[in-house]
Amino acid sequence: MKNTDTYRHLRGESVYLDDIPEIFGTLHGVVFDSPVAHGKIKKIDFSEAEKLPGVVKILTYKDIPGENQIGAIIQDEELFAENEVHFIGEPIALIVAESKRIARDAKKLVKIEIEELPAITTPEEAKENGSFIAPPRTFKLGNLKEGEKKSKYVFEGTAETGGQEHLYLETQGSYAIPKENGNILLYSSTQGPTAVQQITSRVLGIPMNMIEVDVRRLGGGFGGKEDQATPWAVMVALAAHLLNKPVKITLSRHDDLRMTGKRHPYKAKYKIGLSDDLKIRFYEVEFLQDGGAAADLSPAITERTLFHGTGSYYIPNTEITVYSCKTNLPPNTAFRGFGGPQGFFAIEAAVQLAADKLGIPAWQIQEKNLIKDGDEFPYGQIAENAEAINSLKSADKHFNIERKYEEIQKFNKENTNYKKGMSVTPLCFGISFTNTGLNQARALVHIYTDGSIGISTGAIEMGQGVNTKIKQVASQVFSVPVSPIKLETRNTTRVANTSPTAASSGADLNGKAVEIAANALLKRLKETAAEILNTDFKNIEIKNEFVYLKDEKTELNWDKLVSEAYWKRVKLSEKGHYATPEIHFDKTKEKGHPFAYHVYGTSITTTKIDTIRGTYEIESVDIVHDFGKSMNIFLDKGQIEGALIQGIGWLTIEEIRHNEKGQLSANALSTYKVPDIHSVPKNVNIEELETESSKHAILKSKAVGEPPFIYGTGSFFAVQNAIKAFNPNYKPDFKAPMTHEKVLISLYQE
Ligand code: MTE
Ligand code: HPA
Ligand code: MOS
Repeated sequence: MKNTDTYRHLRGESVYLDDIPEIFGTLHGVVFDSPVAHGKIKKIDFSEAEKLPGVVKILTYKDIPGENQIGAIIQDEELFAENEVHFIGEPIALIVAESKRIARDAKKLVKIEIEELPAITTPEEAKENGSFIAPPRTFKLGNLKEGEKKSKYVFEGTAETGGQEHLYLETQGSYAIPKENGNILLYSSTQGPTAVQQITSRVLGIPMNMIEVDVRRLGGGFGGKEDQATPWAVMVALAAHLLNKPVKITLSRHDDLRMTGKRHPYKAKYKIGLSDDLKIRFYEVEFLQDGGAAADLSPAITERTLFHGTGSYYIPNTEITVYSCKTNLPPNTAFRGFGGPQGFFAIEAAVQLAADKLGIPAWQIQEKNLIKDGDEFPYGQIAENAEAINSLKSADKHFNIERKYEEIQKFNKENTNYKKGMSVTPLCFGISFTNTGLNQARALVHIYTDGSIGISTGAIEMGQGVNTKIKQVASQVFSVPVSPIKLETRNTTRVANTSPTAASSGADLNGKAVEIAANALLKRLKETAAEILNTDFKNIEIKNEFVYLKDEKTELNWDKLVSEAYWKRVKLSEKGHYATPEIHFDKTKEKGHPFAYHVYGTSITTTKIDTIRGTYEIESVDIVHDFGKSMNIFLDKGQIEGALIQGIGWLTIEEIRHNEKGQLSANALSTYKVPDIHSVPKNVNIEELETESSKHAILKSKAVGEPPFIYGTGSFFAVQNAIKAFNPNYKPDFKAPMTHEKVLISLYQE
């Protein structure tokens, strides 16, 4: 089944925030923001801006009736800066005008005097200055000293990954409409409608029930709208609240690039020890995470780095530490993988380093250390139904790793102008919000008297296809086609207290809630049918829109049954509540069972570099992936392709750069390169692994949104291996991204 949105997307008919027809008299907001990375605000003069015809009001912190505080996990972020600014792009005021153009013109007339203070722009500087978002955290298993004793080889190294721009096609935005009695309707392009509602309530000083947040779909989120959709929504809500007028904000691409946070850059220092037979005996790693100027989601992202610090391996003696550093850059935020990919990259770098030193291909170490049933993760969970070894075996069966390797060796012997490299990437990704409390969802299912169905959940459609999956769940339970099933907008008055659609768990959590509600409805409909047909409940089945009595098709069809049920005053609406069972985590011990299940897989990447120009192409990525029992293989393969290419982009060509003043240099798509049709792999093959799956996955179809991002990791190492084949002096440094420029320099490193 196809994504049910595709048809409308292609015709340009899908409604995004900026397509919502504007109410007459709608005002527009433009943010006036900090021009410096760190400083004291001495004076602001809005008088010229205010005089511009069409400017209605300029809002600052002084206009906030509630708290000037938008921090979710840690309350360390002002909506509008009061006395100090902490990053370039930090909002100071909202200029509200009759048009966006007027507001933009007015922005140029604002005069500000700031006393600049020293800015911290690297996590090392932050660490030296004791500038942290939160205290460091460590996950431990076994004993490093014991591990070192058992190691024949010990290697030390570093790894670095950069930031990454989300580049959702739809930039951040929100539209607030005042309703009677001080209530507000807020349209927001957010992954977290409840977060928007909560923070708006806090800033406006009004209860949550006065704020209705409504979301139809996003033009992409990728984590960038989990937390950072909130400030814009709060600003327009505040303006609408004070002016009693509809107010809208949509960020220009340039402002969005400048002002919003990115994937967290990480720097890692590690030590790895292996025995004679290539078993990893210990791994010690310390990460510096660049959190930016406020916490945002950094503490939760820190956590996922810890959870994925050992990648897909069982390492009996491990110590993983993350320092979340506070710098004067825009607060970094959620991005597909949520700190996991940064942890994966470091362990893969350590394995590659060991392989280089031992003069063997990395997959010979990888295959000896994959996690298997009964092994303990550093966070205390015991691996169950581990598919790491199976997926590697299956990848080998389908794609023959050894043969590929030999072909590449042969190619490299025979060619100088081109060199090839390959790498293997094992995947093991935990599914559930690491914060156990967030693993819950609700759904509201109505069956209307004509038999059509309306569903509300907390899952936000952002291109991943969660609406289609939820329709499939209802269609399967009711045994009706998907056509009479409609997914309503996400609305906080219909489904309250929702977790953000994140952690790849949107379909699992919301799908399960729909399944629960639909099953309750189905039971009542079957009872009604039994009553009509004068038989026992257990003789009734509903199949393909008809009631079956003891396996015999009856005249009673779905529409008739629903209508009869209504006149018999049967309840045709139901709420479902789902909370993932069996998961828990104790932060005081850093141990527990945080994940409902894990997703496994293996990818093999081959690259070809042009040794004269330094350019390269990804020739192929061959994947064996653990879908569980995929409920929609088209959507799921689409998610793998998208995540893979996003991962490749992160590690190869996307480069976030700031100058020493904390200003983003890569602030446009001319200077920030993302993968395009020329840089995607020439071939992507995806094979399904036969697995048992998990009962916690919706219809046994495992979560697929984030895990395959990890497959992109292979591109870095494959390119690096190709460079090694050309330049014997090359000293691999494990600093991503591996840009074409960097490849050229490495090819001729002396
Ligand atoms: N796919 C598309 N097309 N657009 C997106 O914004 N976000 C990703 C992933 N796939 C995203 C996407 C991220 S970061 C997550 S957490 C999951 O989708 C969220 O959706 P799910 O929980 O329904 O998988
Ligand atoms: N993953 C993604 N988003 C989140 C998480 C998580 O584990 N926790 C809070 N937000
Ligand atoms: Mo995804 S980073 O959990 O929104």
